Amino acid sequence: MNKGLNQAGLDALLAQINTLKGELLSFENADCLSLKLNGADDEIITKIALDLRPWRKGPFKINELFINAEWNSFIKFNALLKYFDATNKRVCDVGCNNGYYMFRLLAQNPAKIVGFDPSKLFFSQFYFINHFLRTKIAYELLGVQDLPAYSRAQGKFDLIFCLGVLYHRSDPISTLKQLKAGLSDNGELILDTLFIERDDELVLSPAKSYAKMSNVFFIPSLKALEGWAYRAKFKSFEPLFSSLTDENEQRLTPWIYGQSLEQFLSDDKAFTIEGYAPPKRIYVKLRG
Ligand SMILES: C[S@@+](CC[C@H](N)C(=O)[O-])C[C@H]1O[C@@H](n2cnc3c(N)ncnc32)[C@H](O)[C@@H]1O
Repeated sequence: MNKGLNQAGLDALLAQINTLKGELLSFENADCLSLKLNGADDEIITKIALDLRPWRKGPFKINELFINAEWNSFIKFNALLKYFDATNKRVCDVGCNNGYYMFRLLAQNPAKIVGFDPSKLFFSQFYFINHFLRTKIAYELLGVQDLPAYSRAQGKFDLIFCLGVLYHRSDPISTLKQLKAGLSDNGELILDTLFIERDDELVLSPAKSYAKMSNVFFIPSLKALEGWAYRAKFKSFEPLFSSLTDENEQRLTPWIYGQSLEQFLSDDKAFTIEGYAPPKRIYVKLRG
């Protein structure tokens, strides 16, 4: 159950964030994104951070406050690091959540960095952190479906990340076309999706839910994913690596409500609670 704030509650919180004091003394851009502030009211900051739950991606630290998000997002980010270079590039993170990867990407000095995510809660978490960091990141409350029009008006991107989004879309080929439309000629898309381990072109389409997520529509085999990329007219398709989600990466913490990976799997962890293969991701690089 999501016990988080409604839209009006988030608006009130955003107004409160605007009034928060705190001068940035240091920012450690590492696995835990750590901010040291001078003159901040740690008690109010803690209260706002708690109000902003659930924190899915992180971790973050503000002075002594450790926001131990459900996902250790550095595991995915660090595994991907050797496959891209964002230096001087126009970069977009589609499905950016609270901006964890975008904050990490700042270390590579991209020319421009834009995040797309339609969730006002995750935007509010970004807004909270960015209130102190004051980065050049532009966060758009938009979805991947808005990318073609956005990039026509604002320019295309040299590097797009679309991580953990494709299986949430009910039309994955259209989604890939939308991502392609946002890429400059020969630009790169780094994408990950849940996948099934099979040698043929089949796709799993869970009728009700996958690992208790009711918004998972299509989980392709690697070959099926390659076929989707071909239909979306990407110039190349390069599998990078795969990874099984484990409890180092995703687990219940006090910063979310309810349940996490442990409750989504069978006791022996061999299956999801619905009897499907447990969550495994494939990472690929596509050229536009
Ligand atoms: C499973 S999370 C993945 C977050 C992050 N990219 C990662 O890999 O850790 C999916 C994200 O997609 C966002 N999302 C939902 N609908 C979307 C859409 N239409 N376009 C882009 N992102 C969307 C959600 O709000 C959420 O932040």
